[in-house]
Amino acid sequence: MSEKKKKFYITAPLYYVNGEPHIGHAYTTIVADVLARFYRHELGDNNVYFLTGTDEHGAKVAEAAAKRGMEPQAFVDKISAQFKAVWQELEVTPNDFWRTTDPAHIKIVVDIINTLKQAQTPAGNDVLYEADYEGLYCVGCEKFIFASELVDGKCPLHNKVPEQVKEKNWFFRLQDFLPTIKKFIESDQLLIYPVSRKNEVLGLIDKQTLPDFSISRSIKSVPWGIDLPWDKTQKVYVWVDALSNYITALGYPNGKLYKKFWPAEAQIMALDILKFHALYWPAILLALKLPLPKALYIHGFFTIDGQKMSKTIGNVIRPDELVQTYGPDVTKYLILSQFSFGAESDIKVEDFPKKYNADLVNGLGNLVSRVTNMIASYLDGHVSVDKKKIKPVGAAEIINFKFREALLSIWQLIQQANSQIDQTKPWELAKSIVPADKKKLKQILEYLAQDLYQIAAALEPFMPDTSAKIIRIITAKKISKPAEPLFPRKQ
Ligand code: MSP
Repeated sequence: MSEKKKKFYITAPLYYVNGEPHIGHAYTTIVADVLARFYRHELGDNNVYFLTGTDEHGAKVAEAAAKRGMEPQAFVDKISAQFKAVWQELEVTPNDFWRTTDPAHIKIVVDIINTLKQAQTPAGNDVLYEADYEGLYCVGCEKFIFASELVDGKCPLHNKVPEQVKEKNWFFRLQDFLPTIKKFIESDQLLIYPVSRKNEVLGLIDKQTLPDFSISRSIKSVPWGIDLPWDKTQKVYVWVDALSNYITALGYPNGKLYKKFWPAEAQIMALDILKFHALYWPAILLALKLPLPKALYIHGFFTIDGQKMSKTIGNVIRPDELVQTYGPDVTKYLILSQFSFGAESDIKVEDFPKKYNADLVNGLGNLVSRVTNMIASYLDGHVSVDKKKIKPVGAAEIINFKFREALLSIWQLIQQANSQIDQTKPWELAKSIVPADKKKLKQILEYLAQDLYQIAAALEPFMPDTSAKIIRIITAKKISKPAEPLFPRKQ
């Protein structure tokens, strides 16, 4: 984090609108939201900016629109609205929801492309040049793909035979920027976390087989995109269009937000788009003479019960359905507590009900109802808690992208408090007429109330509604017996 400015700019990707949002998109966005909420608390609302949105141009999106018999713009409006709606349902709180078909974005992309056209590489070459390309293109990845990357002649990520294309394009001279990018990555000035992903990128650079990348596609193959300003036979390559969002959304080059927030402290994504963010994006920024982001945080690609998530297999998990069953807070808890950030991740939805009952109904929910019941019965609802005594439980883990571990440390407190009740048996002390026992009872309940306050505070970035509810209960002038459980038992 930038010490001087005390600000935090965090980005999740702009998702393709070729299909509805699923749990993979949700994971990245929830992680970004946890950080945004955490840093808002630490640095103040005005010093944190969290961005996500939708990536709406290119062949992939145009094909999806055509398949549904819709005009591209009408189609992207529809799917983009679904993404926006699902983030609202999950109560994630981006400061802006940016769309690449927004005229404000398009205008700045055109300026950026024009600037690149004039720019020189560190070796004194033009950054952009025109050349013929003949080779393979994977529409699913929206990238030129090499025979060496194929498995059985297919793109391994999309299980599809790539298209053979032959076209004139404009190219970006990536080669000339690689030595500088390498230095940034090696020295962690551009941190790539976890280190295995950093090594993967350095390996790619060291292989010296990285070709330049195209910044345009022929309108014959991609009619849906931003016009290349000086060549109307070309559209801006969708990745150059999309990556620019991280600065266009801030009003680059003169916007107040841009001046305050760029460079980003954290750009979050899965490994599928690491190369674009770790090589192409820094190269574009260097060519524009702009600072690079501070860090890229890369998580694994989910499988569902061991299988790739796909519409054909029919195992796509929709976040809106999870929210309907569990509500936003619990959905976030269930997703984040399944595996560590960056690890290979298999989602086991069949574990969700068990985990809900164990951790939320019997764990946290039970603790809240036991403590409040006892305070209402034995202390006439009167107890004092002290905000100043709250410790930053889980904070170090959040800062280090260990979200599951942060939740584990909060749940350890919950367990400890529950077993303290079992051991000290306040209900027995309540029966005693010895004054020392009454004093002890009060002490124990005060201690437990403070624990609840502590737990609620630590939960805020993950489960904001639950956190607020518990704080409301525990800081009430007179605590009453809870009318309903925090988490209803599910069959
Ligand atoms: N539009 C580009 C990103 C441009 S950012 C300038 C894109 N979009 S995407 O819709 O395919 O989203 C990719 C991202 O969505 C991944 O990097 C990850 O954050 C999330 N995920 C999509 N599917 C996923 C899984 N199956 N598992 C985990 N995350 C996944 O690429």
